[in-house]
Amino acid sequence: MKTTLPFPADKPEAYIRLRDEPRFDAGRHLALGAPARAVSLADLGYDAPTIAARPSRLGLTSAFRIFSDEGVAVMRELARRMESNRNADAATGANRLGAYIRGAGYRSQFVRDFCECPQLLEHLSALAGAELARHSVPAVACGINYAPDDVSRAIDTWHVDSVSFDAVILLTDPAAFCGGEFQYFRGTQAEGEAILGGSGVRGSTRELPAERVETMDFPAAGYGFLQQGDMVFHRACRLRERAERTTLLPSFVALGAPPDRTNVDSLRRWADPGLPAELARHEAHLARGKLAGLIDDLPLESTPAGIAAAIEAAVASLNRYAAHLRAPENESAGDVGDVEDAATVGDRAGRAGHPESKPEHKRKHKPAAAH
Ligand SMILES: [Fe+2]
Repeated sequence: MKTTLPFPADKPEAYIRLRDEPRFDAGRHLALGAPARAVSLADLGYDAPTIAARPSRLGLTSAFRIFSDEGVAVMRELARRMESNRNADAATGANRLGAYIRGAGYRSQFVRDFCECPQLLEHLSALAGAELARHSVPAVACGINYAPDDVSRAIDTWHVDSVSFDAVILLTDPAAFCGGEFQYFRGTQAEGEAILGGSGVRGSTRELPAERVETMDFPAAGYGFLQQGDMVFHRACRLRERAERTTLLPSFVALGAPPDRTNVDSLRRWADPGLPAELARHEAHLARGKLAGLIDDLPLESTPAGIAAAIEAAVASLNRYAAHLRAPENESAGDVGDVEDAATVGDRAGRAGHPESKPEHKRKHKPAAAH
């Protein structure tokens, strides 16, 4: 993938677009700082072959300033407006504990411009050691998590995300709420799942060893961190009392090699409006890049069998996705997803950034991951 995809020219009808927004201005709205520290995949215990297959060696950074005071005030107000006028579609937030929205770039030009801001992307790419771009799937390109009304239900379980890179940016004052911590495991996903009792950890009542669980510190509103979310085993704790707690969750694709690891097999289980077409565009975009490589590099002395294999390899993932679309009976339709965050305070009853819209008997067989 050499570039990300542009947003579609239109939007799914279910999304409600904000009007009368301020115009995003990186000079006024950003105040990019440096994280005090970073945790590598090696620090988390991943081995060299695993790390070599990933687009970045980064696990996650500590929280650093992203928005200016003015920027976080604007973003917070837009988040409030999007919450109050979010559509009633079950897949976009009205159900899931009432605590999140996805597809924020469809709703807000300010959010879209933020996610595509060259200064932001350059900064995050430097931290990742990989070229990042706004995620090519609009539904996950940017989401917002809100504190749920019923904090007792807002427990986020251990998981990894379905996208390779995401940031969790706190928009509200961390001193104004209790609980809701973002925590990560100092270990690999497999190790964490083994301790919790296998990949179906959502219903697990076991705990990870406290001495290996780290809590992210957010110094103030406007701070956030970057993680290679599909490699960091993490969770969001529930709030201990009702309070305003809002996080912005932009996601990114890696443009270089090794390739981005967005988990389409997970994303296709989500029920967001327009998502099947969004994922088709994503897969077609990846296939286009592979076909371009074939055109440029296919040796003229290739054997017929070798040429056939090269063609098939270029479009294998795209064809597989088409096959899934034709056999949806094998899908667990209606899943709400996993991208989440620290804020995910309500996010997942299983995964990041997404609610509990699905009955437990349907969720418990799913692997714990994927945002
Ligand atoms: Fe997550």
